[in-house]
Amino acid sequence: MYDENVERVLISKESIEKRTAELAARITEEYRGKRLIMICVLTGAMVFFADLIRKIDLPIEVDTIVASSYGAGMTTSGSVRISKDIKYDISGKSVILVEDIIDTGVTLKTLTKMLATRAPESLKVCSLLDKPSRRKVDFEGDYVGFKIPDEFVVGYGLDYAEKYRNLPEVCTLKPQGK
Ligand code: IMP
Ligand code: MG
Repeated sequence: MYDENVERVLISKESIEKRTAELAARITEEYRGKRLIMICVLTGAMVFFADLIRKIDLPIEVDTIVASSYGAGMTTSGSVRISKDIKYDISGKSVILVEDIIDTGVTLKTLTKMLATRAPESLKVCSLLDKPSRRKVDFEGDYVGFKIPDEFVVGYGLDYAEKYRNLPEVCTLKPQGK
């Protein structure tokens, strides 16, 4: 699963597990008695989502959404659209959108704006990672696992050209590997 382009482990399996448990405990406390729908932003958040929801001690519902941004490569272009929508009606429900990383903020800003028009009771964002120094639009996650520096990372669901999603920890890539 590793190759010569993987540089070093940035966040270990143990740290991810501990932090995920902390976030799940907070969510469990804060959403008791609510009708909570957790939405996984595919594909990057799938590994984090699978671990997170199994630590939430509440009767939740789950759904998935796919956002695509025009233009390939390592950064998000200006325009984002929903290429696979959720199947549930979220009006009057409590919603947590789960993402792998907040980078420029464009994806989540767009997704939350679109979902907010459907009148959920509340809409929050949980992201495993956050690169605050890269922000192009004003956006803050509500539940954030780790703030990281401006380095391209892979593993634990995050990819480079669809590779490395199965690494069990978050790793950096060598600059020449990109
Ligand atoms: P944003 O719209 O710029 O915030 O981009 C968010 C998306 O960009 C994430 O869902 C990832 O798919 C991708 N992305 C941003 N930074 C990284 C990274 O360091 N590694 C892998 N994917 C990244
Ligand atoms: Mg993504």
